[in-house]
Amino acid sequence: MRRSIALAVIYSLGWIYLTQAQFPRVCCTVEAIVSKECCPTLGSDPDNVCGLLSGRGNCSDFHVDSKPWGGPYRLRNVDDRERWPTKFFNRTCRCFGNFAGYNCGECRFGWTGPSCDQRRAAVVRKDIHSLSPAELQEFLDVLDRAKTTVHPEYVIATQHWLGLLGPNGTEPQFNNISIYDFFVWQHYYSVRDTLLGPGRPFKAIDFSHKGPAFITWHRYHLLSLERELQKLTGNENFAVPYWNFATGRTDPRSRFARWGVVCDSLDEYNRLVTLCNGTSEGSLLRGVMESTNVTLPTMNDVRSCLNLRDFDSPPYFTNSSFSFRNALEGYDKPDGELDSSVFNLHNLVHLFLNGTSALSHSAANDPIFLVLHTFTNAIFEDWMRRSRENASFPDEMAPIGHNRHYNMVPFFPPVTNEEIYVTSEQLGYSYAIQLEGNKHANFFFSINILSLKYVNVKIYLKKQKQNNFNK
Ligand SMILES: *[C@@H]1O[C@H](CO)[C@@H](O)[C@H](O)[C@H]1NC(C)=O
Ligand SMILES: *[C@@H]1O[C@H](CO)[C@@H](O)[C@H](O)[C@H]1NC(C)=O
Ligand SMILES: *[C@@H]1O[C@H](CO)[C@@H](O)[C@H](O)[C@H]1NC(C)=O
Ligand SMILES: *[C@@H]1O[C@H](CO)[C@@H](O)[C@H](O)[C@H]1NC(C)=O
Ligand SMILES: *[C@@H]1O[C@H](CO)[C@@H](O)[C@H](O)[C@H]1NC(C)=O
Ligand SMILES: *[C@@H]1O[C@H](CO)[C@@H](O)[C@H](O)[C@H]1NC(C)=O
Ligand SMILES: *[C@@H]1O[C@H](CO)[C@@H](O)[C@H](O)[C@H]1NC(C)=O
Ligand SMILES: *[C@@H]1O[C@H](CO)[C@@H](O)[C@H](O)[C@H]1NC(C)=O
Ligand SMILES: *[C@@H]1O[C@H](CO)[C@@H](O)[C@H](O)[C@H]1NC(C)=O
Repeated sequence: MRRSIALAVIYSLGWIYLTQAQFPRVCCTVEAIVSKECCPTLGSDPDNVCGLLSGRGNCSDFHVDSKPWGGPYRLRNVDDRERWPTKFFNRTCRCFGNFAGYNCGECRFGWTGPSCDQRRAAVVRKDIHSLSPAELQEFLDVLDRAKTTVHPEYVIATQHWLGLLGPNGTEPQFNNISIYDFFVWQHYYSVRDTLLGPGRPFKAIDFSHKGPAFITWHRYHLLSLERELQKLTGNENFAVPYWNFATGRTDPRSRFARWGVVCDSLDEYNRLVTLCNGTSEGSLLRGVMESTNVTLPTMNDVRSCLNLRDFDSPPYFTNSSFSFRNALEGYDKPDGELDSSVFNLHNLVHLFLNGTSALSHSAANDPIFLVLHTFTNAIFEDWMRRSRENASFPDEMAPIGHNRHYNMVPFFPPVTNEEIYVTSEQLGYSYAIQLEGNKHANFFFSINILSLKYVNVKIYLKKQKQNNFNK
């Protein structure tokens, strides 16, 4: 009943949503987990499984990547995220046409209408400085609401697969979590270590960094949150901005200083062989980089990486050279030459922010993560438009999670890297941004990713050993 009302609202406003990530609350029952089937009904008719009666989808097995993977993770069958999400479910709704979502009640990104057969007008991701005061306020307000509103449909697992039904096998171990913290949790879950036993983490694994999925994973992550924020604001045209809200008209420190962080205690989870359970673990930290010597990326750096022809190159890892992905992620020099002694572009900005932003498992706690990744994605979008002919995404031998047909961890229902490796138009958004022709601007200074205080700092920085981006 509630579901059909929600759908009616969605349709009447012409919205499109594609649900995302961990597991829908309705599938976190003992029966669903034991049967490994997550095929909820659409609406109140118990026969309308996956919207079958209205031709939206059916309950099916799904494809899992079977190609060999490369990279340092060579273990087998010790991590819940292998062959994602088959440790948890092996049947889900397969939605037909442009229908989407865990019960096929929604449309794919980029589509709208009751039959999901109309292209929707792209939402436009703008420079945060070009937003009207009302738009800026809307953005800041919706972040606060997302931080405190319990996710209406998804919950997080608080135990590994073996402990998922509790000690007696009768109590599913899931927690509610806020919409924003859910976003943080997804990032944590994708980078967390493999737990081989108490205090025995295997660290050389990462489903969202250090490989080609860096691009597609963060793209989908942002897109999913953007949809949730559209629902919260009630504004179907809401788009995540790409400027730093932390400067200018609003002081981010006062605005977000009270935000608690979640999923920060990686070592503790490893020691206890548990997962982040979404409880608050202290406050956001923004680092002070006055004492260091870092040169932030420049517009020339951005242009350099845009000139790289290949999307990625073997071994599709942090030591790939002349790989657009690796240069943008920041393990190569911007021109693609391998230099493992320094960080560049995306990684460098994370480092520069120090504090929470510099810890990969925790970085998404700071909402600056949003605008940073919106830029990173804009650079990819620009590259995609000019280099499409060489844009093949590796089919095999990328690190685990990074092959073309791997289902991105932990998104649910399953979505492969390939499905998100398309232009933004196809996904229903665009950028009001010109990367070319901005000859003298320092790109990252011009977006002022830190705060006014740091402008003109000329700094060089050696890779920080303690930093998680180099784990
Ligand atoms: C899916 O999981 C169920 C429950 O464990 C099992 O009975 C079934 O054989 C599995 N199906 C496939 C295709 O692996
Ligand atoms: C689901 O639909 C697909 C496409 O029409 C069909 O091939 C498949 O057999 C159906 N599966 C089930 C379990 O009905
Ligand atoms: C588990 O089952 C035992 C025996 O039935 C019962 O005494 C105990 O309370 C149960 N524990 C939980 C957490 O449900
Ligand atoms: C989560 O929230 C839902 C809806 O408010 C509630 O029904 C459910 O009991 C909550 N679950 C947990 C584990 O707290
Ligand atoms: C949740 O996680 C926090 C931080 O690891 C821990 O202190 C707390 O005991 C956990 N809560 C439950 C109910 O397990
Ligand atoms: C980064 O932050 C840590 C603690 O948060 C601090 O000890 C360190 O000095 C900071 N680094 C720089 C270069 O400011
Ligand atoms: C890249 O790094 C991996 C892991 O350290 C190593 O096994 C591999 O030989 C390196 N490949 C190249 C081309 O440097
Ligand atoms: C694609 O790669 C080939 C060979 O590396 C190169 O000659 C060509 O210019 C590239 N095309 C683009 C659009 O970068
Ligand atoms: C950073 O500055 C310190 C002190 O001025 C210097 O010792 C160090 O070599 C510098 N690091 C780099 C990478 O330039």
